[in-house]
Amino acid sequence: MRFRRGILGILLGAAAALANGQEADKLISGPGSTLTENKCKICHELQHIRRTPLSRGEWADNLRNMKERGTPMDEAEMAVILDYLATYYSRDLAPPPSPDTLAAGGADPVQKLLDAHACSGCHTLDKRVVGPSFREIARRYAGDAGAAARLAAKVRSGGQGAWGQVPMPPNPGLSENEVKTLAGWVLEQK
Ligand code: HEC
Ligand code: HEC
Repeated sequence: MRFRRGILGILLGAAAALANGQEADKLISGPGSTLTENKCKICHELQHIRRTPLSRGEWADNLRNMKERGTPMDEAEMAVILDYLATYYSRDLAPPPSPDTLAAGGADPVQKLLDAHACSGCHTLDKRVVGPSFREIARRYAGDAGAAARLAAKVRSGGQGAWGQVPMPPNPGLSENEVKTLAGWVLEQK
């Protein structure tokens, strides 16, 4: 009985979403986001995805479950969707953005932080500017279990000597969660 009401609620929700125009119901854009939206809005609002960051293994289970419930997707599509969800709606990666970040609004909290704290003035993804590129940083520390904590501390306090004699300024305005988010993100840019 509970289960039937759950489905009815979902179908009514989907009908309401249709009536309101579904444009508002979007996922973070990235590789696979459109496929995921198209497949997953067939039965319910994308809110189900947004409010539930899961580990990669849990997303894999969820996708098998959704397929059994009738989501039309083949193995290749499922693999793309899994990569997408495990990247953008993951519970394994950086901790959720802090409320002050969210208050700044916007879909991509990391980009907001990079812009707000001028990181992008000195770093780019793949070219050395004043500081090393995020990619070369990620490659240097790949497989280094302690790197996330050390880089977080360095983003917070600044420093020099790891890449040359040009110092990186400290960022006392960043919360602990924010520096962790940034350090975790940098280390993924391999
Ligand atoms: C054929 C219909 C259908 C499609 C398509 C569908 N789902 Fe679902 N989904 C359901 C139903 C039904 C439930 C509610 C299950 C319940 O109440 O236990 C649900 C619930 C969920 C939940 C909440 C799970 C929970 O345990 O609370 C998530 C997350 C989810 N779906 C993700 C997805 C994703 C990701 C996709 C796209 C790959 C998708 N769904 C596509 C039918 C569907
Ligand atoms: C004024 C220029 C400047 C700004 C702004 C800046 N950086 Fe840097 N960053 C550098 C320089 C220079 C280095 C190399 C320091 C060194 O050699 O130890 C560096 C190094 C780093 C490193 C690698 C540290 C290591 O020990 O290998 C990370 C990670 C990093 N920056 C992230 C950031 C983030 C995130 C921001 C924004 C919050 C930021 N940087 C803002 C100049 C800058």
